Formats: sequence, C-alpha cells, structure tokens
Amino acid sequence: MDRRHFLALGSAAGLAAVAHRGPALEAAMAAYHAKRPRRHPHLDRALLRPPPEVSAANLTLRAAARRVEIAPGVPVEVWSPGDGPVGPTIRARTGDTATITLENALAEPTILHWHGLRVPEAADGHPRLAIAPGSTYRYTFPVIDRAGTYWYHAHPHHRTGVQAYRGMTGLLLVNDAAEEALGLPDGAHEVPLLIQDRRLAADGTFAYEPAMHEQMEGFFGDAAFANGIRLPTMPVETTTYRLRVVNATTSRVLRLALSNGHVMTLIGNDGGLLPAAETVTSVDLGTGERADLLVDFAHLPVGSRVTLVSAPFASPARMGGMGMGMGGMGRGMGRGAGGMGAGGMGAGGVPQGGAMDLVEFTIDRAVTPRGWSPRPLPTLVLPDPERATRTRMFHFNSAMMQHDINGRAFDMERIDETVRFGDTEVWTFVNDSPFPHPVHMHEVQFQVIERVGGRARVMPWERGLKDTVLVYPGERVSVAATFDRYRGRFLMHCHNMVHEDMGMMMNYAIV
Ligand code: C2O
Ligand code: CU
Ligand code: CU
Repeated sequence: MDRRHFLALGSAAGLAAVAHRGPALEAAMAAYHAKRPRRHPHLDRALLRPPPEVSAANLTLRAAARRVEIAPGVPVEVWSPGDGPVGPTIRARTGDTATITLENALAEPTILHWHGLRVPEAADGHPRLAIAPGSTYRYTFPVIDRAGTYWYHAHPHHRTGVQAYRGMTGLLLVNDAAEEALGLPDGAHEVPLLIQDRRLAADGTFAYEPAMHEQMEGFFGDAAFANGIRLPTMPVETTTYRLRVVNATTSRVLRLALSNGHVMTLIGNDGGLLPAAETVTSVDLGTGERADLLVDFAHLPVGSRVTLVSAPFASPARMGGMGMGMGGMGRGMGRGAGGMGAGGMGAGGVPQGGAMDLVEFTIDRAVTPRGWSPRPLPTLVLPDPERATRTRMFHFNSAMMQHDINGRAFDMERIDETVRFGDTEVWTFVNDSPFPHPVHMHEVQFQVIERVGGRARVMPWERGLKDTVLVYPGERVSVAATFDRYRGRFLMHCHNMVHEDMGMMMNYAIV
C-alpha cells in the first residue's frame, strides 16, 4: 500500500465508522445531544480511560453481568471481571506471587487464562477447569516471565468467544528492573489499549451470534472498542507516548498505523521487549498478539488530531481467488475486495481487512517533548532451533463448517502430543485453509524462525519472544520453543475465537 493511498483512507475510516453506528446507538446519541448542547465535536466520543490498576497479590475478580456506559449515555450489558466494561489491568513484577480468586457470578461456567504467562497447569485456565456459576477458583503462581504486555481472558470450552467479546478480558502488565532502567514513558504517557470490535444490536446489547459464513471466517464487529470504550478519544501532549496494544478481537487481524502516516517505534511484542527497537509504519496483529509502541506527538499543532487506525489491507481470505472456493459460505469477492472493505459493509460488520478507527488522539497541550531514542534493550535469550530434538507438523484446516488441527477437533480429555520436559522442539504450523489463523501456544514463549510461502519471511514485529503467530493461507511458519518450566497439560490453538470454540485446539502434555 503506498502512503498517499493510505492517507486518503485514514479519514475514510472515520467516516465509515460514523456511518455504521447501530440504530440503537444512533438513537441514544441523538437523545444525548438533544439534552446537551454540543460545545465540542468530540463530546460524542467517550474519553479513553485506562482500566483501573490492581496488584496480582490477593486479588479478587468477580465475573458478573453489569451495565456500563460504552459511549456517553449508552449503557450496555457487559460480562466483566470487575466494575468496568472490561477487567482491571493487573500489574505485577517479575518475582511476585500472584494470588487471584475468581468468583463466578455469571449464569454459565467460566475460567480465566493468563495469556502469555508460564504458570503451573492448575493456574493455566484450561477449559476443563471451568467453574460453575456461584463457584470460586483460586490461582496461585509465581510471576516468572520478563516484563511485557500480557493479557487475560475467559477460556471455557465453546464459550471463549462470546465471553471475551462481552468483556471477560483485561490487560496484565509485568514490569522488571531491566525494563525500568530504560526510562520508558510512564504514568499518563503509558497507555494500555485492549482492542476489540463489536456490534451493537438494535435492542442495545452486544450482538454475538456468528452466522454461517461467520462460523467459517470469523466474527467481525462494526466499530472498535479500546478498554471497553467505543471509539474513544484521548487528549495528549506534544511528547512521546507508550501504547501497549493487545489484539483482543474475536477474529480480526489489525494493521496498526497512524492516520497521518507517521512512523512508530516498535519496542516490544508478546514476550516483552524486542532485541532491538524497530521503526515501522504499520504492525499487523492477529488476535492474541501484542505490540508495545512508542508514538511521538511532538511538533504536531495543538488542536490537531491523529488516529490510531487499523489500516485497510487485502484480506488473505480473498487473495489469489482462495475465497472463491468457499462458494456461498464466503463473503463474496465483491465485498471488501482490494481492502476497501469499509465501503462495502452490511449488517455483518467491517469485513476482515476493512479500515477501522481505533483510538483518536487530540493534541491538547504543547510541552517540551521528552524524547526517547532507541537504546540497547535488555539482552534476550531465545530458544535455539539448533538444539531441537524434534520437529512436529500441524495442519490447520477449515472446511465444511469445521475447524481442526491435523484432522481432529478438540477433545478436552485427549492428549494429542507429548513433549519431554526440558526439550527444545521446532513446531511447524501449516495453513491449508482460506482463512488466517493466529496460532497460540500456552506455557511457552517461542522464537519465530521461518515462514515459507505467503509473506515468506519473519516480519519485523515477530522478532524476540512470542506466544502467538499469524499464519496466513498458504503459509507454513516454524517456531522453536523450550518446554522447561512446568509439567502438565497445556493447549495449542488458533486464537480466532470462533475457530477455537469450534475445535481448532489441541492438548499437549509436558512430561
Ligand atoms: Cu489467549 Cu488459550 O489463549
Ligand atoms: Cu494463552
Ligand atoms: Cu483459525
């Protein structure tokens, strides 16, 4: 995509978003504005709020249905492990002990998983550990992982998608001494962004009922939410901010970019800080992946606006005619083809690859910029593929309303692979289907070592340690992992939550 093209689309994304508010939200917004004279065009955008921060020690998370405002004057029922529209941000330091009690006040079973952290089996939130309504679950685990942007979400079998969508998710930020020594932007300049996309139904609830074609490609919302707030805005100063972005969407690949086309400095991803900072114009994140970005608002005029967007891209499901094989199940080539998806939406939300506004920043105050120049990041020990004792191959298939791995759908009790404790292995994920699969491994942080086919290289945002990697149709991606922390039963799965709920998941045991 050339930059001129993108700049033009940056504003188109905003228009498209306005045009596709649900009818319920339209009505609520109209009522709101009738009551309250508009002094500022941004009053109809809610302010971005960081979720409240809590410590991992002696924490109680009560999962319950609640009514919260997701935009001014628009209350919606969410299911959340806290008082807000999503869960609180859990802060921990490497070496801390997390003691967390989950209370289930929902009307259905649930369990929480700490995505990216290496924890004992009993603390990992495997679906077979889901607890009934009215029950509690106690997690105790040492935080052994390095500083990074981790997150948590519900993980009950068949219900991960709907529960995370309704708000059963949050950020989990780990700090350590090596990261603190870097003097990265903090306080109001450190902005956690848990990104989701949702559809507001006519009855004022979040709609989540994947239709037939959505059970294949995935579920797509019509507007983005950050920290549970719909299309928020945030006043910023003319200095450097640290954006810690989690792709917590159900199925959407985000192409993070700034609407003014400016570069960003990528300093970290799933497993913490990268071996070296990267200057990027965009970063692609599949569901479950994270980006730690420095964004510089210096030299922008006070009063101007910059939006963090998901820039349009040609959805791989429709590239090379692959979508055609889907017959009536796909979304059809006319819609969203060529990445102009935002122009062709229907009731189904913005298609995969369509432009979306995520968070708007308004330059509010000029200050002396406190720059941050790339400096050596903490050294990083990566799993060494040369030491691998085994290679395993996993084929991800989506066809005939089914999603499976190596021809098998998830069975909670079946162990599909057994790995020897302490070993390093290379796992190769092969995408034989027309849809992107963000592949996630519990219990390890891996090194992406090779991508064959498709994009045919390891992307700049895939260096360092990761726990989720995006595998596009026609790609085979190899990762190296060392299984040396805990023995037990853990999961590997596609993190497109529609796919995982339909069985694109398997157990592996470390023995
Ligand atoms: Cu985000 Cu099984 O995990
Ligand atoms: Cu996980
Ligand atoms: Cu998938």
